[in-house]
Amino acid sequence: VTIRPPAATGDRLADVDTPALIVDLDIFERNLKCMADNLAGKPLRLRPHSKSHKCPEIARRQVALGAVGVCCQKVSEAEIMVEGGIENVLVSNEIVGLPKLDRLADLNRRAWVGVCVDDAGNVDDLEAAAARADAVVPVLVEIDVGCLRCGVPPGEAAVELARQVAGKDHLRFAGLQAYQGRAQHIRGFQDREEAIDQATLLTRQTLDGLAKEGLTCDIVGGGGSGTYQFEAATGVYNELQPGSYIFMDADYGRNLAKNGELFREFEFSLHIYTTVMSRPMPDRAIVDAGLKAFSVDSGMPTVFDIEDASLDRASDEHGSITLRQSIEQPKVGDKIRLIPGHCDPTVNLYDWIVCIRNGVVEEVWPVSARGALL
Ligand SMILES: Cc1ncc(COP(=O)(O)O)c(C=O)c1O
Repeated sequence: VTIRPPAATGDRLADVDTPALIVDLDIFERNLKCMADNLAGKPLRLRPHSKSHKCPEIARRQVALGAVGVCCQKVSEAEIMVEGGIENVLVSNEIVGLPKLDRLADLNRRAWVGVCVDDAGNVDDLEAAAARADAVVPVLVEIDVGCLRCGVPPGEAAVELARQVAGKDHLRFAGLQAYQGRAQHIRGFQDREEAIDQATLLTRQTLDGLAKEGLTCDIVGGGGSGTYQFEAATGVYNELQPGSYIFMDADYGRNLAKNGELFREFEFSLHIYTTVMSRPMPDRAIVDAGLKAFSVDSGMPTVFDIEDASLDRASDEHGSITLRQSIEQPKVGDKIRLIPGHCDPTVNLYDWIVCIRNGVVEEVWPVSARGALL
């Protein structure tokens, strides 16, 4: 059974069923182009993260505008991207467990599919899986440059792991993964820049150690929507992995730009389209989107269409909006847009992205890798 799309090509926005995930195509295309233009002429490649959209149609558009390929976080995402015609995929994550490693190795028979490692035993397992598939898997050693997630410490530990990878028959040492995820949402511009300066220093030191061993890095990857311009300027990173820039979200919208104003290089293209299902009080509107229609890990969605209103509470299927003044609008049945607090986990709740231009549905894209967790 497939979930029915909330709209069809040619429908008016007002007729899109709710809750739905809608994208303003003009804004979305501006965001795509803005990133491509900002990196044009620089000695680095763009490898956008597809965990934000999980949609091969969007990945193909990114590649058409110059991206070398995409990042994925899961093997099942990578399978869907390769199936969707993307020939160059980096799984920017550690993959553990034989079934997944076998699938990853197998995928390398159809496309370039790299992966990250931070553990010697995992390298042995990966080598065995690659041998079984008769494939050669490109491998990046992940270093922890402040993300406090996966990754070996920069320096000697990374060099040792790279040596191990390089010594394997069915693995190819392809470089370093040095993503500073915690820096993305540091609000102050200078503070964000300093976090990336520190990450770059650690990455550079590791590169020096690798060079002494004769180990060269084709890829030095990292960078997200909040910091990509800093990594781009280092001369150390040569592949950038921003994901959220295509949509933006309320949380990214709270970052500050160099001039101290809100970061608005990329615009909000993604909305949750909702219907007002009740007006129980003069200062309250209840919409038909709740915890099953948006993520709240980075705060509640913001209300796009009504000034001075906030979505303060959510239950499974309801969102409660407080209106600052008691007002007539919106009425039951009216449709209003929300900006998601965090785009990635919100997109993962939907089967379809409804694309709007000039108030009309132009396309409906499947979120093919929705729920791809394996
Ligand atoms: C490894 C990696 N690279 C890039 C990104 C993209 O970050 P953003 O969506 O903030 O641009 C992420 C996001 O979590 C990530 O985990």
